[in-house]
Amino acid sequence: PEEVSRVRNIQKIQMGEYIVETWYFSPYPEEWENKEMMWICEFCLRYFGCNKSLERHRIKCNLRHPPGNEIYRKEDNLSFWEVDGHKQKTYCRNLCLLSKLFLDHKTLYYDVDPFLFYIMTETDSKGCHIVGYFSKEKESVDGYNVACILTLPQHQRKGYGKLLISFSYELSKKEGKLGSPEKPLSDLGLLSYRSFWSEQIIKILKEYKGEISIDEISRITAFTQDDVLHTIQALDLLKYHKGQYIFCLSKKNLEDYEKSMTKQKIKIDPKCLQWTPPV
Ligand code: COA
Ligand code: NA
Repeated sequence: PEEVSRVRNIQKIQMGEYIVETWYFSPYPEEWENKEMMWICEFCLRYFGCNKSLERHRIKCNLRHPPGNEIYRKEDNLSFWEVDGHKQKTYCRNLCLLSKLFLDHKTLYYDVDPFLFYIMTETDSKGCHIVGYFSKEKESVDGYNVACILTLPQHQRKGYGKLLISFSYELSKKEGKLGSPEKPLSDLGLLSYRSFWSEQIIKILKEYKGEISIDEISRITAFTQDDVLHTIQALDLLKYHKGQYIFCLSKKNLEDYEKSMTKQKIKIDPKCLQWTPPV
């Protein structure tokens, strides 16, 4: 679509305590063309042209968390909220507009009804602050378990992307389905997924005793067989040995794995997920 190639219309956003430079065009209403800065309420995601307007709004706005059900909470202050696009149209549209500032090829802005939004927050004394989210079609004919996924730039490169991805697969496991993210993925999306798939598959091969098949790995992880196979090929884990294929972890595979495990302090704990698939 034409919009994709349009130049950035808003240069910076202010959200909570952060000022963030935007990456791409987002179809905010016309009067927002060529804005140096936009002020966004970090709880309801409404947007304003000046700090005064935001401050006036903050007095009235009593949201302190995303407008949905808290379906995950752990004592590390991490929560997930399920927000229905049909029930919370304004919030979800505002979320899509916000995330379009950091996505160059997705075109979901107004028709939020067919989606559920899973918002990850961090809690402090002021409230539950959005860190990132992913959206998911209520009914995906292609078997996608993620449509859009975003870590807000002020929180990127700290492992939250992998937490979002991990959470998306926990939902798929509860549904008894395999899932894969919607294509095409952005470069950063692909890097994050590849890194997550690799880690999880190496973890299984490291810990598993006895023979294991692609199907079995797929069943344990909720990754599609395709995603498992591609990852195994990319990591070059499958070796032909004495007439049969075996999985082989190289020293490098194991070192990379150990390195990423020491970096990742927070993990998704499936026991903290209180959720049954929506019918
Ligand atoms: N450069 C190089 N590698 C990167 C990277 C970057 N800027 N950002 C992420 N990666 C890779 C790394 O391998 C990283 O693991 P590592 O830090 O252990 O090396 C892995 O991806 C995951 O990093 P993580 O910190 O968990 O991800 P994140 O919180 O930064 O979020 C995205 C990842 C994709 C959600 C985030 O970059 C984003 O929101 N991008 C804009 C929106 C988008 O493109 N979404 C996907 C398409 S729908
Ligand atoms: Na996924």
